[in-house]
Amino acid sequence: MASCRYLLLVLCVLSSVATLFISSSAQNARCSAISFETRSYNFCTDLPTLDSTLHWTYDNTSNSIDFAYRSDASEGWVAWGINPTGSSIMRGTQAFVAYINSTDNGAINTRTTSIEGYSTSLEQGDLSFAVSGLSGEMVENTITIFANITLPPLSGNRTEYNHIWQVGPIDNGALSVHPLVAANTQAAGSIDFQSGASTGVGNSVIRRRNTHGVINALSWGVLMPIGVIMARYLRVFKAADPAWFYLHMTIQTSAYIIGVAGFSTGIQLGNDSEGIEQTEHRILGIALFCCATLQVFALLLRPSKDHKYRRFWNFYHHSIGYSVIVLSIINIFEGFEILSPENKWKNAYIGIISSLGGIALILEITTWIIVLNRKKAHGANP
Ligand SMILES: *[C@@H]1O[C@H](CO)[C@@H](O)[C@H](O)[C@H]1NC(C)=O
Ligand SMILES: *[C@@H]1O[C@H](CO)[C@@H](O)[C@H](O)[C@H]1NC(C)=O
Ligand SMILES: *[C@@H]1O[C@H](CO)[C@@H](O)[C@H](O)[C@H]1NC(C)=O
Ligand SMILES: *[C@@H]1O[C@H](CO)[C@@H](O)[C@H](O)[C@H]1NC(C)=O
Repeated sequence: MASCRYLLLVLCVLSSVATLFISSSAQNARCSAISFETRSYNFCTDLPTLDSTLHWTYDNTSNSIDFAYRSDASEGWVAWGINPTGSSIMRGTQAFVAYINSTDNGAINTRTTSIEGYSTSLEQGDLSFAVSGLSGEMVENTITIFANITLPPLSGNRTEYNHIWQVGPIDNGALSVHPLVAANTQAAGSIDFQSGASTGVGNSVIRRRNTHGVINALSWGVLMPIGVIMARYLRVFKAADPAWFYLHMTIQTSAYIIGVAGFSTGIQLGNDSEGIEQTEHRILGIALFCCATLQVFALLLRPSKDHKYRRFWNFYHHSIGYSVIVLSIINIFEGFEILSPENKWKNAYIGIISSLGGIALILEITTWIIVLNRKKAHGANP
């Protein structure tokens, strides 16, 4: 019952952190201030990265939109697209691209391209839906793409489209791969053209990545170290025996269950994102999963306290246990590199893990003092 309540608490904390992580505020202050010479749109939204805005009018009889996508173009090319399949961020995206051709008197070029994979040079290609009136315009440092499109149907009566936007350089007259920093890799979201609702990090893939990060940081990176601290430092108090054991087991088991959920979201993400290999992160994750599973099964094979093999079992259990903690923390920082969330998330985790480290250090010293005092007491009156 105590463990049940505890698990409930963990789930509450998890879900509130996840909500915090995922929610984002949309102000639309930038796009509202933009007016076009001869056009006007019913909706607009400030895209969260890359200084971009999207403006559109929805026509419900033809299920079409007339849109304007404006972006800072100092990088070179700009692009916006929607992904009707949505299982991947890029693959399947139906995109519009615009750039200035400097060898052609600075004429603006626009084209459509259907993105089949991660190595695309954004060649001209037809889209899966009807496009009319495609044009582009350069004003100061910004490029705007205009077009009218018939929205492709989504499966399951969904009305929220996944969309992405991007900017990239032009090298030797050819459109080149976009930068791989967070502002670019997180340039995706979802949008309901009919209601105007949009979410910045609402793209299902990005949402899954963030959830994966939160779940794993909490289970592998916070709960497991807490469980180790319980086992190592409560044991020295006679009154806490065998409570420490049950506490340790409960915390580690729930951390393991949540951790496995996080691990499987990671494997799924890896399978869904062909073209992007996070080999180190993946291998570490699989190794962690195997070691942690071993730990769970080792519990069942534990020899009794005074069995002659218990020493070996203890050595094995402790070495694997500490390795899991160290590798988990390393892998969480690898994950921070990959996701590159706002600094506050990394700082929050650094804060938590160093507090745990500080607590462990104080407890370690206290334990030594208690143990040495006990030895002394035994020595004085054997
Ligand atoms: C389309 O929009 C108009 C005006 O907002 C509304 O009256 C009508 O019911 C809508 N039609 C459909 C099929 O949603
Ligand atoms: C897009 O073009 C079609 C065909 O010309 C037109 O019927 C539709 O109203 C346009 N959509 C918008 C939102 O203007
Ligand atoms: C730019 O214009 C030149 C001359 O028209 C053309 O040969 C070249 O392919 C264009 N480059 C791009 C990237 O469109
Ligand atoms: C989609 O909407 C139609 C009509 O509103 C409904 O009959 C159908 O069951 C819905 N399909 C799904 C998969 O929700």
